[in-house]
Amino acid sequence: MKDFIQKLPKAELHLHIEGTLEPKMMLELAKKNSINIPYKNIEDVKKAYDFTSLQSFLDIYYAGASVLITKEDFYDLTWAYLLKCKEQNILHVEIFFDPQTHTNRGIAFGDVVEGISEALNKADDKLGITSFLIMSFLRHLSEDEAIDTLKLSLPYKYFIKGVGLDSSELGNPPSKFKKVFQMAKNAGYRCVAHAGEEGDASYIKEALDILHVSRIDHGIRCEEDEELMKRLKKEQIPLTVCPLSNLKLKVVKTMKEHNIKRLLRYGLLVTVNSDDPAYFGGYLNENYEAIVDALKLSKEDVKTLAINSFKASFLSDSKKLFYLKK
Ligand code: ADE
Ligand code: ZN
Repeated sequence: MKDFIQKLPKAELHLHIEGTLEPKMMLELAKKNSINIPYKNIEDVKKAYDFTSLQSFLDIYYAGASVLITKEDFYDLTWAYLLKCKEQNILHVEIFFDPQTHTNRGIAFGDVVEGISEALNKADDKLGITSFLIMSFLRHLSEDEAIDTLKLSLPYKYFIKGVGLDSSELGNPPSKFKKVFQMAKNAGYRCVAHAGEEGDASYIKEALDILHVSRIDHGIRCEEDEELMKRLKKEQIPLTVCPLSNLKLKVVKTMKEHNIKRLLRYGLLVTVNSDDPAYFGGYLNENYEAIVDALKLSKEDVKTLAINSFKASFLSDSKKLFYLKK
């Protein structure tokens, strides 16, 4: 099965580029850029990755991202992830980045986008990997700050496919960002949002009804609302599920309790993704392997999940068909 997962052509739709910062690169960049981080070596860093909740992870994740300073740093980070994609037979990626994590430290929006995009273009050229970039607003900050970020992005619209919503979910419901999502839609961006990771099913409904998103990131608490389940099935609204993330952030106690198999059996358009692989102990294939082992998924299930990953993407119908034939 491991070999089957490895060889299967896949897309990844829920991946935070800052979450691919491996401890080795974090230490190297901290040294190069003279940034103070509270770790001396790789073991120190790994020891800190013992999370109790989403917030306990985010605190460490934002501190880690502080070592990213120059356009080249963003390029190197992204290129390292794309090489991993090649290794894992990931043919298409839709990558999140959090501009506010960087602009709030004085990094230019353009440096972030251009560094990431240069690596994405090279991957298209040299590795045959296609991609889209999705800019996420930090939901623990205000809507006005998200609007400022949206305005900053407009000169770079060519590089950016859509907008998302991430960071601390509890207490920051989608409705807080109604206006900025409307503005983003008017500007021609596709919209997605993290919802139903730690927040309850009402967050998912708000993301659909108030933000009008076309995909839900995580969304695993949808089972709490039967009407919502019927709607997700009927409208085939994709969920980008991240099993190892859910386990590491204690959203589920054990992988055996994960509901991805039930959601799949119910007929939802669920996909498998790695979220922040450098922090959660596995890239995409390891996420597939973890659910196959714990939930006894069949090869047919795995194939359906990989097919879903292309169906749920923002690729054109003809490109989807091209990949699905593979
Ligand atoms: N930022 C990076 N990973 C995230 C996650 N799983 N949930 C919310 N915000 C995030
Ligand atoms: Zn995420």
